[in-house]
Amino acid sequence: MKITVVGAGAVGASCAEYIAIKNFASEVVLLDIKEGFAEGKAMDLMQTASLNGFDTKIKGVTNDYSKTANSDICVITSGIPRKPGMTREELIGINAGIVKTVSSSLIQHSPNTIIIVVSNPMDTMTYLVHKSTNLPKHRIIGMGGALDSARFKYRLAEALDAPISDVDGMVIGGHSDTGMVPLTRLATRNSVPVSKFLSNDRLNQVMEDTKVGGATLTKLLGTSAWYAPGAAVSGLVQAIACDQKKMFPCSVLLEGEYGMNDICIGAPVILGRNGIEKIVEIELNDAEKAHMVESAKGVRATNDLL
Ligand code: NAI
Repeated sequence: MKITVVGAGAVGASCAEYIAIKNFASEVVLLDIKEGFAEGKAMDLMQTASLNGFDTKIKGVTNDYSKTANSDICVITSGIPRKPGMTREELIGINAGIVKTVSSSLIQHSPNTIIIVVSNPMDTMTYLVHKSTNLPKHRIIGMGGALDSARFKYRLAEALDAPISDVDGMVIGGHSDTGMVPLTRLATRNSVPVSKFLSNDRLNQVMEDTKVGGATLTKLLGTSAWYAPGAAVSGLVQAIACDQKKMFPCSVLLEGEYGMNDICIGAPVILGRNGIEKIVEIELNDAEKAHMVESAKGVRATNDLL
């Protein structure tokens, strides 16, 4: 199993590290445009192999796509991250050009690959990959909901004063501060709805804290986060590589599902060796449906900037 990660920055390197530590891939190619940067990150990571006990070979390359040939899965993290006070949508000007060029170069050398888009604004970048390549829809996946759901579970566990493994919850919708739809109604603690333990006010606070999860970290760090994004990407990669048939909310091209068309937005999907093997339609209540409609409006407004 060969995996390419484009962008050896904070998220790309963290993602390569988690993939390697999980030890399911034979090779990870880390590619960056900055001369020597990916080579340095790859060498540093390879020097953790004996310490962390993995056999995955990590190779770094500067913009040489021939080295990515025949990758089973390609992850796109190249582009600029947001600074404190910025929205993800503000990154579109620079990142759209990067994502378009990078996806075309990847497909040239790996025509059968599955692409995972991470660069922001992620739903729009995923849509751009659909529009600018001829890959079938099940091979283009946007990563956002897996991270947002991990942040949701973190906030739920905090509010419940419970271990995270007791908590389950999912965030669908757009990967933006206003677009996320945390499904508090369906969140549980050991199968018991969290509303049994938390007041409406506390649940609303959890929802708000989840939606600004990325912005909170950007303010603290001065740039966007990398550990949880890297771990979330590695989870998607592993589900595909190991044909796990695991369910994650991912940005996916909708064709009628959730009453939407011609948009990439977060919805639950089953991931396996073929990429997106099924889009799962869950029954939403009126408030959740209205929230999804608003979320889609925001994503479409950003898509219009392409
Ligand atoms: P970073 O600045 O640390 O790394 C980006 C890397 O991309 C740099 O090393 C840069 O040299 C490289 N790059 C730029 N243009 C390139 C090109 N044409 N070809 C190859 N490499 C190129 O940024 P970071 O923190 O790793 O974030 C990367 C992206 O991921 C940002 O757009 C950020 O907003 C996004 N992100 C998305 C998340 C999600 O949940 N979807 C979560 C966190 C970040």
